[in-house]
Amino acid sequence: MTASWLDQHRASYLSVPVCVTGGAGFIGSHLVAALDQLGARVTVIDDLSNGRAENLVQRSDRVRLIEGSILDTAAISEATSEARIVFHLAALGSVPASLVTPERFQLTNATGTMLVLNAARSAGVGRVVYSASSSAYGDTPTLPKVETMIPDPRSPYAVTKLAGEHLCRAWAICYGLSTVSLRYFNIFGPRQRPDSQYAAVIPKFATALAQGTAPTIFGDGLQTRDFTHVDNAVHANLLAGSCKRSLQGEMVNIGCAEQFTLLELLDHMNAILATKISPTFAPARTGDVRDSRAAVDAAKALIGFEPVIHFVEGLRATLTSR
Ligand SMILES: NC(=O)c1ccc[n+]([C@@H]2O[C@H](COP(=O)([O-])OP(=O)(O)OC[C@H]3O[C@@H](n4cnc5c(N)ncnc54)[C@H](O)[C@@H]3O)[C@@H](O)[C@H]2O)c1
Repeated sequence: MTASWLDQHRASYLSVPVCVTGGAGFIGSHLVAALDQLGARVTVIDDLSNGRAENLVQRSDRVRLIEGSILDTAAISEATSEARIVFHLAALGSVPASLVTPERFQLTNATGTMLVLNAARSAGVGRVVYSASSSAYGDTPTLPKVETMIPDPRSPYAVTKLAGEHLCRAWAICYGLSTVSLRYFNIFGPRQRPDSQYAAVIPKFATALAQGTAPTIFGDGLQTRDFTHVDNAVHANLLAGSCKRSLQGEMVNIGCAEQFTLLELLDHMNAILATKISPTFAPARTGDVRDSRAAVDAAKALIGFEPVIHFVEGLRATLTSR
């Protein structure tokens, strides 16, 4: 049985050739599974630096994996050569790691995005959908975060992801390549690695609760996040890929427009897993954003996006699938 939100995309993707960069990763593998169910012909390019081939095991023979880098111009041009839509998710994703090797992040996330755009342009691709990041907003106290705010990226990672948005916009203006950027807010769901640096708190808490140990909260636990189940990111990508408007590098938030504290998150997790484990507290981490909540009106107006699964339901689905 497929979810009703997925069914609505069938006519747009049946037999359509698409490319998913980073398709063996967390979000990418969910997108590939959805595209496969919709009958699309999917080429994945992933260097498996953080993704896993096992994430794609249940795929049909319509899904092809090219184990290669978006920085390899021959590999990316092969991956995009027949695609009508490119979903660009490949990136290095750890904020702390980006402080250690900023040049790697610049290369993969900024130059890599440019190479994907160039390959897409040469191949005559109709649309590039770019996975952008809410880290572009920095730590502005104003909520909700709206797209008209001036970006304030505060780490090499955030800067490189924002650069990708600007490249997408410039390639639309200069070369007529239709592009759109989706700024994700704390995506979580099955297959997310506990060592991931984004919504890492959910897989980390889940691992601790499963082991009967106290999860660590940095700070007072009252910081808030717009935790967004991965199905919402997949739905947004599918809408953006098939949107009939002439998209030209617009960027829109993808979240649930809700916010929950870490203490509320832990309460919900304890309730779902029938555990009663209290956290231990550690000093707040420098650079952590205090509060976050997306406005999703622009995504609704541009591509018709509305969340298909909200926080508690998504959390339950994630924890019971482990
Ligand atoms: N998870 C979130 O909450 C979140 C939030 C904001 C933005 N994003 C963005 O969404 C995208 C996917 O994130 P994710 O959480 O699934 O991360 P992920 O690390 O699971 O997926 C990224 C994939 O890209 C691959 N990759 C890295 N460098 C590559 C290269 N040079 N060539 C080919 N493949 C390469 C990795 O192996 C991995 O499979 C990224 O662009 C990330 O910046 C994620």
